[in-house]
Amino acid sequence: MNREAILKKFEPNLSNILYIMHDLQDNNPERYLAKEDIEACGDYLNVPYSYVHSVASFYTMFSLKPRGRNIIRLCESPPCHLMGADSLIDYLKGSLKVDIGGTTKDGMFTLELTSCLGVCGVAPAMMLNEEMFGNLTPEKVDSILDKRRKEI
Ligand code: FES
Repeated sequence: MNREAILKKFEPNLSNILYIMHDLQDNNPERYLAKEDIEACGDYLNVPYSYVHSVASFYTMFSLKPRGRNIIRLCESPPCHLMGADSLIDYLKGSLKVDIGGTTKDGMFTLELTSCLGVCGVAPAMMLNEEMFGNLTPEKVDSILDKRRKEI
């Protein structure tokens, strides 16, 4: 879908800014808000570029740099931390050969950290794009990521 078509889905009302930014980001194959996306959003809502950019910078769900086709967001809040999130972070960094915020060489995954995902009862937890996974172990993470590799 082109940028124009995404914008037209919404009323040009500032209360729609997060929805518009989400759709623009999801529409980008590199899953980030490009300069052109920010400009288009600002023009459509009649707010300055700097306003849209500051919103994008504030929320961790937006990225201002290109990312992989799949975003892994591992929770690092205390309940997940207590249930072993730290060792999962180390495991993922090693198995994907990336640092936090990094993207695998094949462009398949970007590894990010997030605060509580609201599913502390199944800690440690992560999101893979829009999908939630809990009770994670290294084996379970491997199986989730392998499945995703085969889907694409
Ligand atoms: S602390 Fe990780 S989901 Fe709540």
